[in-house]
Amino acid sequence: MSGNFTLSIIKPNAVRTGKTGPILAIINEAGFEIAALKMVRISRKQAEVFYEVHKGKPFYEGLIGFMTSGPVFVMILKHENAVEEFRRLIGDTDPEKAEAGTIRKLYAVSVQMNAIHGSDCDENAVREADLFFSGFERF
Ligand code: RTP
Ligand code: MG
Repeated sequence: MSGNFTLSIIKPNAVRTGKTGPILAIINEAGFEIAALKMVRISRKQAEVFYEVHKGKPFYEGLIGFMTSGPVFVMILKHENAVEEFRRLIGDTDPEKAEAGTIRKLYAVSVQMNAIHGSDCDENAVREADLFFSGFERF
């Protein structure tokens, strides 16, 4: 199903402050279909694998610490042109640059605590979905 899905994570700050429901409502309203969903506490090892492309960057240690600081919701979302459409829905990495109405504009509190993740290309959507979900966990 490459090309028609993306991998998203509702990040610890948004889960902790009760924004999971409102975020899922926005995702639903935008026409994305949930193909897999689970609540997990990501381990340090898992976070290091997930974000290995950022290893060595100044924000890396803070990012790993934040993403392992509490439970998250991980999901596979189906939509035509899913990666691009979802990146548009979540908005810029920096909430100050995110457009009005985007999930990050609404719920990010900083560049680090930016509420939600979306895969940045089809290849990474496949990689990230395979890290979190077996074939039996996808619908
Ligand atoms: P994500 O992977 O979480 O969807 O975010 P993104 O594509 O918009 O941004 P990316 O460049 O992949 O960065 C991953 C996460 O690292 C944190 N970050 N901090 N300058 C900074 O302090 C900085 N840059 C990136 C953010 O939490 C970002 O979501
Ligand atoms: Mg990214």
